[in-house]
Amino acid sequence: MKISDAMVAAINDQIKAEFDSAYIYLAMSAYFEDAGLEGMAHWMKKQYKEEVEHAEKFIDYLYERGARVIIPEIAKPKESYADALEVFKTAYAHEQYVTSRIYKLVDLASGEKDYATLSMLKWYVDEQMEEEDNTGGIVSKLEFLGSDKHGTYIVDRELAAR
Ligand code: FEO
Repeated sequence: MKISDAMVAAINDQIKAEFDSAYIYLAMSAYFEDAGLEGMAHWMKKQYKEEVEHAEKFIDYLYERGARVIIPEIAKPKESYADALEVFKTAYAHEQYVTSRIYKLVDLASGEKDYATLSMLKWYVDEQMEEEDNTGGIVSKLEFLGSDKHGTYIVDRELAAR
C-alpha cells in the first residue's frame, strides 16, 4: 500500500519537530556548561543525540516507504533560563507537547488504516512515555530537594551518570 501524501507531509513535519527538539536540548546543554553544571550539561547533550536519532528513524522510515524526505530548517532555541528547575520544567512541557504531536500522527495513521505507520509509531508512543517520565522525574527531584544551589548540586551529580 502506498503511503499517503498527507502522512508523508505529517512525518516530514515531525522530522522538523525532532530536530527542533535536538537543538532545544543542545542549547540547554550549553546553558548548563556555562553555569558550571556539568552533569546536567552531559544529560542534555545525550538528550540532544537521542532527538537526532528520533529524526533519523523517521527519515529512514520514509525512505523505506519510498517517500520524499524534506530536510527542514531548524528553529533557533532559547538561550537562557532562570535556573535548572526552569530548564527541566521547559523540557518536561516540551516532551508533553511532542507526545501530543505523536498522538496526532497515530490518529492520522488510524484514520487512513495505515497499519505500517501505526506499527512504526508504537515505538514513539513508548519512547514518549519514557521521555516524560525522565524529565518529569527530574523536575520532581529538584522541587523536592529545592532548586537552590544545594539541591541543584545533588541532581547535577546524579545526572552525570546518564
Ligand atoms: Fe523525540 Fe524527546 O521526543
